[in-house]
Amino acid sequence: MTPILEVEDLSISFLQYDRGTRRRVLPAIRRLDLTLEAGQVTAVVGSSGSGKSLLAHGILGILPYNARMAGTIRYRGEPLTPQRAAALRGREIVLVPQSVSYLDPLRKVGPQVDRDRDKVQAVLGRYGLGPETGDLYPFELSGGMARRVLIATAVAASPALVVADEPTPGLDARVAGRILGHFRELAEGGAAVLLITHDLELALTIAHKVAVFYAGETVEEAPAADFARREDLRHPYTRALWDALPQHGFTSIPGTQPYPGAVPEGCPFAPRCPRRQPDCGGDIPYQTVAGGRVRCLHPERGAAS
Ligand SMILES: Nc1ncnc2c1ncn2[C@@H]1O[C@H](COP(=O)(O)OP(=O)(O)OP(=O)(O)O)[C@@H](O)[C@H]1O
Ligand SMILES: [Mg+2]
Repeated sequence: MTPILEVEDLSISFLQYDRGTRRRVLPAIRRLDLTLEAGQVTAVVGSSGSGKSLLAHGILGILPYNARMAGTIRYRGEPLTPQRAAALRGREIVLVPQSVSYLDPLRKVGPQVDRDRDKVQAVLGRYGLGPETGDLYPFELSGGMARRVLIATAVAASPALVVADEPTPGLDARVAGRILGHFRELAEGGAAVLLITHDLELALTIAHKVAVFYAGETVEEAPAADFARREDLRHPYTRALWDALPQHGFTSIPGTQPYPGAVPEGCPFAPRCPRRQPDCGGDIPYQTVAGGRVRCLHPERGAAS
């Protein structure tokens, strides 16, 4: 079956002007690959600044004016041009934005969710919000309510592709769990769900597949089941994330993710990698290994190295 969304060799960079004259290109996402299937929740996991929101905005066609995008995004097998994205946005393809500031502060909640009042009540109810919520203005909502309104707004349109950018920050674990359950239901109803989060533990509660981002690249795509055993993970960075999970003792590795403009040639993780070799500064192909993919010349699991 054709995947709902195929992202191939995607790059997003920013044009910056130093002191008004000198132009600088700042690469933020490089050669990024990702495939989203109908009926599946795919989690994109990466630390702050790894490019998660940029990917979301690139898919939706809402990057800022100084961003340049190259590579291919296909939706249902056809190129997703900015024009096509604009036509599908809010209907077939929806975003649950990272910030609640996406709500219009001057309009009541109800009409922002949908035009049909009955539908508004139904969808608000689904997210534990009473019918009176529709008559409130965004400033009258608590942070948790605003989050749920954003989600309700996005899914009211029965989308085929849901991009949820960090949808549950600041919500207590029970509420977060319930909301994630709804994303899983959307997938079970046939949608492709892209769940963006820095929280691997949370992602693993609902994801079928996990894509790991590091410094603007996908370093691994793995079935969520592979995270049950450390030996099943392919990339050294994925294993480092696994080691940092609470149940594995919060073990962290030294160093930090490089900023755009300061990313080394070759593998961006090499400076922190326990397995690095001299050839890690060269070209790193994206290989298929045991039902997943890894961008590493010396993966922990897979091809002989
Ligand atoms: N308009 C912009 N101009 C220049 N650089 C930008 C712009 N927007 C984002 N960036 C840079 O691109 C990188 C990726 O940003 P992005 O917002 O996608 O990160 P993220 O993974 O969503 O992080 P977080 O978990 O904090 O939300 C960051 O280093 C950021 O500073
Ligand atoms: Mg973000």
